[in-house]
Amino acid sequence: MLARTVRMAWPSDGSKGSNGYGAVPVLVGGSRYVEWIVQCQGQPDHTGYLVSITPIDAALRAWAPTWRGAIETADCMRSLAAFCASASLPPLSGLSLRVSPQHAYHWNPDMPERLHVQVSFEFSASHRLALPGCTDAENHALFGKCSNPNGHGHNYRLDVTVAADPAVANTVAALETVVDREVMTRLDHKHLNLDCPEFAELNPSVEHIALVCRNLLQAPLRAAGLDLVSVTVWETAKTCATVQAAG
Ligand code: NI
Repeated sequence: MLARTVRMAWPSDGSKGSNGYGAVPVLVGGSRYVEWIVQCQGQPDHTGYLVSITPIDAALRAWAPTWRGAIETADCMRSLAAFCASASLPPLSGLSLRVSPQHAYHWNPDMPERLHVQVSFEFSASHRLALPGCTDAENHALFGKCSNPNGHGHNYRLDVTVAADPAVANTVAALETVVDREVMTRLDHKHLNLDCPEFAELNPSVEHIALVCRNLLQAPLRAAGLDLVSVTVWETAKTCATVQAAG
């Protein structure tokens, strides 16, 4: 798989610019910044390329001025995918649209009618890695400084992905309301071991935090008309755990 990010102003008027790293077409007054991520599947040929990035960029920038509808829709993704196919790009394994550092939309050709919405949140919490019933020495042997008795803190990032239902008028707002109520009020600015009953008997590793978030969110999201796809918790910029929705 090759993924290529194409950055541009939206709506696109097809205007040129010289900073492809920034955005082409260029950002002008009143335009918004978006990123399209095109994922192509296949194997590299003798050149070492799966596909040159030049036709990917060209296809996106030729297609963009032709689409005048809402972009956060499966219709839009299907239009872009069809354009990529007509431009003889390799088969797509997915398309993503990032509209802010915290908001992205994901589509893949296996479920062309569906659009996944991903929203990122942040919460601060302290924790201590320790197994109930183990001595401090035993916990230190297992978890090192992460088991220091008074704990330590993280700024956690929580990525929640749901399947967008067109019947839910504002999926992002509905998602954010549920996450705020079910997760933020429970975990933000808390000591997970001491303040949160969910971790009274559960070691608050990043894997378990992701699992708890999944369990807190899935039913309330469903009640709000949203199908949970997955939850990812980032403990640091280098470490995360992902849990899929329960079947
Ligand atoms: Ni930690």
